[in-house]
Amino acid sequence: MTEAARRPLLQIIVASTRPGRVGEPIGRWFAGYAREHGVFDVEIVDLAEVDLPMFAEPEHPRSGRYTLDSTKAFSALIGRADAFAIVHPEYNHSFGAAVKNALDHLNQEWAGKPVAVLGYGGVAAGARATEALLPVLIGLRMVPVAATVPIPFASQRVSGGGDERVFTPAPETETGAKAALDGLTGWIDTLGPRGTR
Ligand SMILES: Cc1cc2nc3c(=O)[nH]c(=O)nc-3n(C[C@H](O)[C@H](O)[C@H](O)COP(=O)(O)O)c2cc1C
Repeated sequence: MTEAARRPLLQIIVASTRPGRVGEPIGRWFAGYAREHGVFDVEIVDLAEVDLPMFAEPEHPRSGRYTLDSTKAFSALIGRADAFAIVHPEYNHSFGAAVKNALDHLNQEWAGKPVAVLGYGGVAAGARATEALLPVLIGLRMVPVAATVPIPFASQRVSGGGDERVFTPAPETETGAKAALDGLTGWIDTLGPRGTR
């Protein structure tokens, strides 16, 4: 495939890692929705599978000099992406530790790339977690789309069991997801696909 024909790669980061997490079916739903949207190649980066240790690099990640195989592999994975969507839960009025640990691991690999944020939780719909996460993303020189997606009472919208669990979005969640994907597309048009620079 030529560079001109290459579709931008959207990585959907599933940020909850605990057994039984609703983030996994929400991430799968959003991946399917993003594929139907038609602009991106889509892959899921599941932080439970990536299984990073707590950040333990001796140098600042902006140096790109990593010592741990786990960091080197994560760098290669994230470096391939042109855009991100972070699907993350609200824990204790903020974002969870797993997403912060993953973000802290790298630097240039995130920079200059658009990012959409889908937060979920109970009545607060993950909105506090997302508002707390946005300054972190900006600190990493990422480009957040304005259309964040709050998902209230997310666990009530998951049915089935095990690997068959299905997330059924409310209509306003689908509307928000489309706005987020359109926002990412707009930034890709403005910034160009990072992978070709
Ligand atoms: C440690 C913990 C803290 C939580 N704190 C909040 C909170 O502050 N606000 C909220 O709306 N929901 C809160 N919840 C509910 C979660 O958002 C809800 O359980 C969600 O399903 C968690 O995502 P997960 O299943 O993908 O881990 C909390 C859940 C846990 C486990």
